[in-house]
Amino acid sequence: MNVLLIGSGGREHAFAWKIAQSKKLTRLFILPGNAGTAGCGTNVIISETDFEAIRKFVLENKITMVVVGPEAPLVKGIYDFFSADNDLKSIPVIGPSKTGAQLEGSKDFSKRFMQRHQIPTARYQTFTKETMQEGMTFLETLPPPYVLKADGLAAGKGVVIPATLDEAKQELTEMLAHSKFGEASVKVVIEEFLKGIELSVFVLSDGVSYKILPPAKDYKRIGEADTGLNTGGMGAVSPVPFADAAFLKKVEDRIVVPTINGLKKEGIIYKGFIFIGLMCVNGNPYVIEYNCRMGDPETEVVVPRIKSDLLDLFEGVAKGNLSERKIEIDSRYAASVMLVSGGYPGAYEKGKVISGLEKVKDSIVFHAATEVKNGKPEPVTSGGRVMAITSYGHTMAEALEKSYKSAGEIKFDKIYYRKDIGLDL
Ligand code: AMP
Ligand code: GLY
Repeated sequence: MNVLLIGSGGREHAFAWKIAQSKKLTRLFILPGNAGTAGCGTNVIISETDFEAIRKFVLENKITMVVVGPEAPLVKGIYDFFSADNDLKSIPVIGPSKTGAQLEGSKDFSKRFMQRHQIPTARYQTFTKETMQEGMTFLETLPPPYVLKADGLAAGKGVVIPATLDEAKQELTEMLAHSKFGEASVKVVIEEFLKGIELSVFVLSDGVSYKILPPAKDYKRIGEADTGLNTGGMGAVSPVPFADAAFLKKVEDRIVVPTINGLKKEGIIYKGFIFIGLMCVNGNPYVIEYNCRMGDPETEVVVPRIKSDLLDLFEGVAKGNLSERKIEIDSRYAASVMLVSGGYPGAYEKGKVISGLEKVKDSIVFHAATEVKNGKPEPVTSGGRVMAITSYGHTMAEALEKSYKSAGEIKFDKIYYRKDIGLDL
């Protein structure tokens, strides 16, 4: 197979690392990729959402499968673009249709979907500028804290959790009347706050059947003990000790099965990953959000635990016979620590030389924001989340110890990482 993988983060390096090991692979291209993915295949400098340029590349290079990492091309409708084009429609795209991607692209859509299929989630209502006063009244019926979500994609910043009613009302005004998140906050979902512990469950579906991948927990805040600003994710572990077989059975019965059946019943084409963000409340799972892709950095711990050939599973998705394919999971723990640029998620500098990579022996380094400049041997930083250091262990502590030891070998100016990944578990 000639595979085109779309994306440039740690998630895509983890996919590329795994796909490069497949017996079914002939050539792998990563669009646009990073300094790490260049070691697994060929990077192609084209924008992830430039569908015409992607079309030309796919045809010229006889690509036989497209794997989509991030949400933007999915929400923009890359699946539908391929299926509507006579020359492209026989080339499978691993990722949902534009309507399926609305599970992530619109919080209101996903809440209504959950309601239609009795999938457990927080009680909510949706408001617009015209119904802002009713939104204020709804806020008054809820106990604090308050959860306000911009309906559309807002680069992971669209959820605000004010502690008081006054702040919540002010936030609602900012979002609806002052377009705080632009188009994304034309609608705002207000929902009840769920108190519990979060985890993520990932499902791969061919639209008919599904495989549940190992659960993972990520660490979203920049500071230790979950303090400070939200980030894309500062580390992850898999499996999640509190997500035992009984809990995962509830997730499958109450959430995964009704989600897949709901998509099917509504005729929504979904051949790709579903990322289910869950809150465990007194041992029961509630959906916090759906994403139409894998998580980052969760992929950096989930993919290394998949022993089966990933392209074989993707082929099952493409052909609609995923149920006939086997998925084997490594029983070891995987833990990943994200190395970030000092200042992230606020302002930070780029272009810092990264050294010490050759000293890492016991871990896998997944690059996230790195590039090679002027053919120099050492990559430089090109974004906030620079690289994820993943290790295996027979215990979580062993996996974490290896990742921290490796993290200590890697140097770049103003490097920062959390030292408490996994400690809460
Ligand atoms: P989201 O972008 O939907 O993942 O929300 C970002 C974060 O806000 C989640 O990871 C949760 O920590 C938190 N959150 C979202 N919805 C709720 C809720 N209903 N109750 C408690 N926390 C929530
Ligand atoms: N780690 C959370 C996400 O990928 O959205």
